[in-house]
Amino acid sequence: MIRVELRVNGEAVSREVDDRTLLVELLRYELGLTGTHVGCDTSQCGACTVKLDGAAVKSCAVLAAQASGGEVLTVEGLSTPQQLGEVPAAFVACHGLQCGFCTPGMMMAIDYYLDTDGSLDDERIHQALEGNICRCTGYVNIIEAVKHAAHARIEAGKPVGRQHG
Ligand code: FES
Ligand code: FES
Repeated sequence: MIRVELRVNGEAVSREVDDRTLLVELLRYELGLTGTHVGCDTSQCGACTVKLDGAAVKSCAVLAAQASGGEVLTVEGLSTPQQLGEVPAAFVACHGLQCGFCTPGMMMAIDYYLDTDGSLDDERIHQALEGNICRCTGYVNIIEAVKHAAHARIEAGKPVGRQHG
């Protein structure tokens, strides 16, 4: 067993977990943050994507112990009870989901893309999302949601892309 201490969506968390516990297991089963999904468990589908210290990571490929001391943002942390964040709001506005299984991971990958690039170029967006698989949408509305969210961030006066951050 090992003690992990980290911040999740701004809250300090401390848990004793098995050494082999994955970050996604800590989030879902210890903390009840079931918005982070498990699709493949082999680092291929992107459904489990979260941000760890500002970087998008597949939380099925990170041990909870490796995240100790870090700052984790999950899909729950993109919004407040009062207001949807720019990325979730863009998915609503652009009909960016169907079954919704891939959606939390997509939204976290997009949030990271907006942090670090934010270009509206289709090719750049495709590359940014190549680690996230959607079996339903055909991606068209997801790409629209990326652009919508980028505009919303700019309108809200928030930084888009590393050059502005
Ligand atoms: S569940 Fe982690 S990449 Fe698929
Ligand atoms: S909306 Fe169903 S997998 Fe993406």
